[in-house]
Amino acid sequence: MDRKPRIGIMTGGGDCPGLNAAIRASAKTAIKEGYEVIGIHNGWQGLLEHDDEILTWVHTSGIIDRGGTILGTSRVSPLRVENGVQRVHDRINVLGLDSIVAMGGEGSLSLCYKMYQQGIPIVGIPKTIDNDVRETDFSIGFQTAVQIATDALDRLRSTAESHHRVMLLEVMGRNTGWIATYAGMSNGADEITIPEIPLTEERLEVLCERLRKRRAKGIKFSIVVVAEGTQLPGVIAPIPENNPEIKETIAPKPGVAQILGNIIQERTGLETRVSTLGYIQRGGTPVAYDRVLATAFGVKAIDLVKEKKYGEMTALHGTRIVGVPLGKVANGVKTVNLNAYGVAKRFFA
Ligand code: F6P
Repeated sequence: MDRKPRIGIMTGGGDCPGLNAAIRASAKTAIKEGYEVIGIHNGWQGLLEHDDEILTWVHTSGIIDRGGTILGTSRVSPLRVENGVQRVHDRINVLGLDSIVAMGGEGSLSLCYKMYQQGIPIVGIPKTIDNDVRETDFSIGFQTAVQIATDALDRLRSTAESHHRVMLLEVMGRNTGWIATYAGMSNGADEITIPEIPLTEERLEVLCERLRKRRAKGIKFSIVVVAEGTQLPGVIAPIPENNPEIKETIAPKPGVAQILGNIIQERTGLETRVSTLGYIQRGGTPVAYDRVLATAFGVKAIDLVKEKKYGEMTALHGTRIVGVPLGKVANGVKTVNLNAYGVAKRFFA
């Protein structure tokens, strides 16, 4: 008897809100199209270790609002283990998978492209709070991280105002400043520092002077958003050497905001405090935007599978959901559009 075609679904790299919405959308769309769906646990590790499960309609119901990923994730790469590629091929054959829908950030999608070149029939879905995946306007998880960071900044504003302090908040984003730019703009922050604009000694002094002038004008507090990859003079660049295969990079050293806060307090004499948002901005339920984007990407991914457009990734171009070649996405990050940063900068003191 002819068996049903089978699709594997997996999530790799850092988790983010919206992943389960994408798993739900791709699994349910595939089931409706007559596929059987295999959930692969913990990214490529699941294929290497034969760790997977059948995903049913029921199993993927009620998860659209859940943070994280029901499949688990990892940064394991078959390219870095003994005979990894062959073991993946063998497992795909045993499972009878016709294709794999892989959800990942810039590093994981770069790996997906390499595995596609090794003959694995892959369709990618861009997800990462960093929004640093090229060829798509937004990735799943970004808008939720921006909302979480904005809520935190709004809370910091009230305590900064009460204590007449300069308040810094360090946000994630690895080697780009998308979260800092969007959350800073939405909070009306007084300063935003991003990796794309290294804080040279000169820029640092200009920033401190703006804070002094704000205080001199009688505004008794300031809010400064610091992307974790911000480059400070004399501070060892926290941006690690990206490993395009698995992005096993260690995230930029947390603490850059504390260093900047100490400098600000020393140079301006203004009482300064620092908070780091850390993994809070990567957890919990996705905002509606990310649920919708994840659903649209999940549906599009199955369309690409049906059309056998392997080696492509779903992408958002304006309001359109399209497929783009993974080769155009791999091995590079989408840095902040400095026009967008320029809009935020118009309001710095
Ligand atoms: O790529 C998403 C991200 O949250 C980055 O913003 C952050 O620098 C990194 O992952 C943290 O990596 P890990 O979860 O391995 O500590």
